[in-house]
Amino acid sequence: MLSFAKWIATAEAFGSVAPVFETTLTFSKPIQKAALSLTSVGVYVAEINGKRVGEYVLAPGWTAYQKRLQVQTYDVTDLLEQTSTLAVTVAKGWQLSHLAWYDHHPYYPADYALIGELHVQYTDGSEDVFATDESWSCRRSALLDCEIYDGELYDARMTDTPRLPVRVLDKTKDILIPQEGEEIREMLTLTPKAFLTTPKGEKVIDFGQNLTGYVSFSLNAKAGDTVKIRHFEILDREGNVYTENYRSAKATLSYICRDGLQSYKPTHTFYGFRYIVIDEFPGEIDPDAFLAIAVHSNMKKTSSCVTSDPRVNRLIENIEWGQRGNFLDIPTDCPQRDERLGWTGDAQVFCRIATYQFDTERFFKKWFGDMRAEQWENGGIPHVIPFIIFQDKHCSAAWGDAGVICPWQVYLTYGNKEILEKQFESMKGRINYISVCTKDEYLWTGCQHFGDWCALDLGKETTDSASRKDFIASVYYANAARLVAKAGKALGKDVSYYLELEKKIIDKINLTFPTYHTQCEHALALYFDITPNKAEVAAALADMVVKNGIHLDTGFVGTPYLLHALSENGYLELAYSLLLQDTYPSWLFSVKQGATTIWEHWDGIKEDGTVWSAGMNSYNHYAYGAVGDWIYGVAAGIRTVEDAPGFAKVEIAPHPDKRLTYLTATLDTRHGKVLSHWERFEDGWRYEIETPVEATVTVGGKTKTVPKGRYLFYSK
Ligand code: BGC
Repeated sequence: MLSFAKWIATAEAFGSVAPVFETTLTFSKPIQKAALSLTSVGVYVAEINGKRVGEYVLAPGWTAYQKRLQVQTYDVTDLLEQTSTLAVTVAKGWQLSHLAWYDHHPYYPADYALIGELHVQYTDGSEDVFATDESWSCRRSALLDCEIYDGELYDARMTDTPRLPVRVLDKTKDILIPQEGEEIREMLTLTPKAFLTTPKGEKVIDFGQNLTGYVSFSLNAKAGDTVKIRHFEILDREGNVYTENYRSAKATLSYICRDGLQSYKPTHTFYGFRYIVIDEFPGEIDPDAFLAIAVHSNMKKTSSCVTSDPRVNRLIENIEWGQRGNFLDIPTDCPQRDERLGWTGDAQVFCRIATYQFDTERFFKKWFGDMRAEQWENGGIPHVIPFIIFQDKHCSAAWGDAGVICPWQVYLTYGNKEILEKQFESMKGRINYISVCTKDEYLWTGCQHFGDWCALDLGKETTDSASRKDFIASVYYANAARLVAKAGKALGKDVSYYLELEKKIIDKINLTFPTYHTQCEHALALYFDITPNKAEVAAALADMVVKNGIHLDTGFVGTPYLLHALSENGYLELAYSLLLQDTYPSWLFSVKQGATTIWEHWDGIKEDGTVWSAGMNSYNHYAYGAVGDWIYGVAAGIRTVEDAPGFAKVEIAPHPDKRLTYLTATLDTRHGKVLSHWERFEDGWRYEIETPVEATVTVGGKTKTVPKGRYLFYSK
């Protein structure tokens, strides 16, 4: 790609100041069509004659940079004039910022750099290519510093800085690939919900929603006046600004004004926040001059679900916001503190609901490309993709399993076999990794794992859990073999080895771990079809939940499966009781505490308003939002059919509960819209079902296959 262009960088070091690379072009003939292809080391914004090129925010996105760097191509025909200036501002972005909390350093040591080509087709049929080379110039931009965790410092007075020469870099072009993922875009704009002064006197704007993006503002000021804004997620118990959970991330926007009326918004970084505190501002603050702009990958919303319970509806909205906040080119754990990484475990548990809520096929395909690029030779999948931390090459159960679970789920939801074809070797690699590193054959023992991360079953606040890590790991080993077999079967391959392996693993698990100790262990044994004694195990799980006051005590691993394990084994009502529980710990507890997205911890904000820990306490961490797939898959009952992926056929098995008077869910599939609605009717239930394809509908215990259409059913 970009065969004419040369990589260019600043000739002298700019330190933290973002450079603008510039060229002026003159066209001798009328232009028919023009396409600009660009990428950078850092993140860039391009302008032609002062107008922004495209809508991509934080281009070129985040990939496994050592091996893959996306090139964006924009149609710029309408922006060009006979003489045109092309200016590209490059800031640190993910490649040059300090990333990761304990090993703070730029993970990809390099210089700001740019490469690009403008292909022009004239009306007479001739063509020209203008490419980055030594003829370009660069200058210091007004962006005096800008990075991912800390935010930015912008000096609006810095306009006519001197033009300086560029230097051509000897940097490979082999890593360049065409844009694969969805573009990151400005997706929603929110107005302030409240303007308050805290007991400490801090001036705070509340946007009423925890989101990822930035604020825009306008003001009238004198040159040299300053605006300083910090971003944060919650007010503390006393109602003051609380930023401790951002750890070392400063998440600050500092702006030095020029003279007159002006407006500003960040262009090269992002923040996770619900509130801003305005530490410095010239004159009176007018909250109406501020807007919050939510930024994420440009995914189409594909589902909706409303029930008669406003608390459940808020939970569903929170799950959606969890995805909006964390699907910013890669699936991140959280968008605010000094982390914001592509944690595989989080993505794995959230994957199914993610594919329901939004069209994520392109998003995941690109992330899978990074996963393949980062996978170790022994098949191990790093904890975070793109990989930036944990130089020791171990790979936790449930986290590395993103390598098998996510491709399979994306295939089921969208039906694209090409995804499985591309991932199949990588999926097999996962099995190889486990087989090589386990201590005991047919189990996965003796390795390091996160376990049921953040569970509550040790009876104290910790990220560790009481569930046995070797048990969890072995269950995931069996599941990996099962999914490789399923994927192989879909691709027409001989999968007898993996089927046999799965059987041997399950047998050995049952010999080694004949009893289960925690809610998580029970849920895994049931959900993954490990135990031959389902009825007994389900009864024991139900008993544990009831004895715990109808509360869960599971973490990242057990939580996604808990309601499924209960409802699939005769305890639907109890599963609903957990969903509708609003005392701690539960999903609705956070809703009751005012959450507008999903929290990392069940006790993110405790009953008394205190927080569980400053070190690990994100208020926008989608993992527990995995419960959304129970709401769509069991309560509404909309499910994929393995032999007809992509909803070429659909299974609809709604499960009402008398504590809700109605539920209406829709899902836009590749084949059209599925609707599942139920409502209380006289002394039973009335169901309205719409299917765009042949569907197997199970209502009130009776199953019927129906062709596409809209149907009414009734049950007691
Ligand atoms: C992240 C999690 C992640 C975990 C793994 C945390 O720091 O925020 O979401 O899965 O580490 O241990």
